[in-house]
Amino acid sequence: MGRQLGILAMYWAEGKLEELSFFRRLCIYGRKLGLEVLVFTPDDVDDSKESIHALTYSHSDGKWIRKWSALPPLIYDRCRYRGADNYRKITSFRNKYKNVDYLSRPLANKWTVYEVLSEQEGIRPYLPFTVRYQSLKDLSQMLKKYPIVYMKPKNGTGGRGIVRLQRLGSSQIVWMEGRDPSRRILPQQKIHIRQIPAKLSSWKLEELYLVQQGIPLALKDGRVHDFRMLVQKDGSGEWQVTGCAGRIGPRLSVTSNLHGGGTAVPMEILLRNRFGTEEKVREIKKDAYALGLRVVKQLESKFGALCEAGIDLAIDPKGDIWLLEVNPKPSREVFRRIGETANYRKAHLRPLEYALWKLKRRKPEEETSGMDE
Ligand SMILES: Nc1ncnc2c1ncn2[C@@H]1O[C@H](COP(=O)(O)OP(=O)(O)O)[C@@H](O)[C@H]1O
Ligand SMILES: [Mg+2]
Repeated sequence: MGRQLGILAMYWAEGKLEELSFFRRLCIYGRKLGLEVLVFTPDDVDDSKESIHALTYSHSDGKWIRKWSALPPLIYDRCRYRGADNYRKITSFRNKYKNVDYLSRPLANKWTVYEVLSEQEGIRPYLPFTVRYQSLKDLSQMLKKYPIVYMKPKNGTGGRGIVRLQRLGSSQIVWMEGRDPSRRILPQQKIHIRQIPAKLSSWKLEELYLVQQGIPLALKDGRVHDFRMLVQKDGSGEWQVTGCAGRIGPRLSVTSNLHGGGTAVPMEILLRNRFGTEEKVREIKKDAYALGLRVVKQLESKFGALCEAGIDLAIDPKGDIWLLEVNPKPSREVFRRIGETANYRKAHLRPLEYALWKLKRRKPEEETSGMDE
């Protein structure tokens, strides 16, 4: 097969790869498009030959097979942070093979992303006010301004280490609840904010934490919710919103992440339930989609290549939209969970179609012939 896309992955346990079923779909769809998808980790690279011992899914045999191949000219990097050892390997791979092109480059931490997004006037009004945690004073000042405040680690994922503080009247007594760094639920407790640094003493608040205006997101039954939007480049290199879905957190959770037990729901159903009129729903959706596109363009202009992003959005009781977080390596699972099969498919196809478009535009001398065995 002519054109190849490498998927840079990571072993998370003895020989086990993350996201294998996602990669399997990419192999199958890729084949239909005339793109060979080769999954590999830094451990599968033979530096002396610049070749990789890759995994590829053989549809006809219904199984994964290993094959040697030249290093593909374009890479879809799906590595998430999994400890210092893995990180070192990935960084050394990225530094060694500078001539390789990537669909996306890593984004910065949540604080830097916040700073870069707030530079853009069309985005700033959508950002919950955020500061870095430097001392208890930051908490007390934020709680004077906002009845709900979230604390979250700037490198966190999946709702780990996230705490919600809810002011009780005007005092410094708050309801504190959330998830610890292993994502276990911290039961609600009434606490004076002075006690928080000691309570969370192992969490490295000064080094890692942001303090953010909390958006009221409780539904009638008390569960919290938000939205996950997937924005991707298409087969002409243009940004498109692939879809957006609601997520409802489990009972007693202040986060809605699917990995933390959240449930996915179609966006329209959630919005219609909350806001009633079709017109309001349409207006919110239009505004949210336009915001999503502005966000990826701004990030791409500051951090370099990006092919997709999963954007966490909150919509408050007035219908105002807030941007909570941007994920550069989003999952596509929400669409499967709500039965939007066309969007689920599109979410897999788009990075492949975009990769093909990029490969076709490369100068001929950059094309590798591919040394399949
Ligand atoms: N400022 C906020 N107001 C209300 N809810 C929030 C806020 N920040 C985070 N959340 C809740 O916590 C979840 C996880 O936060 P997020 O910033 O996306 O971090 P993570 O990287 O862990 O997913 C969100 O999906 C949302 O449910
Ligand atoms: Mg998130």
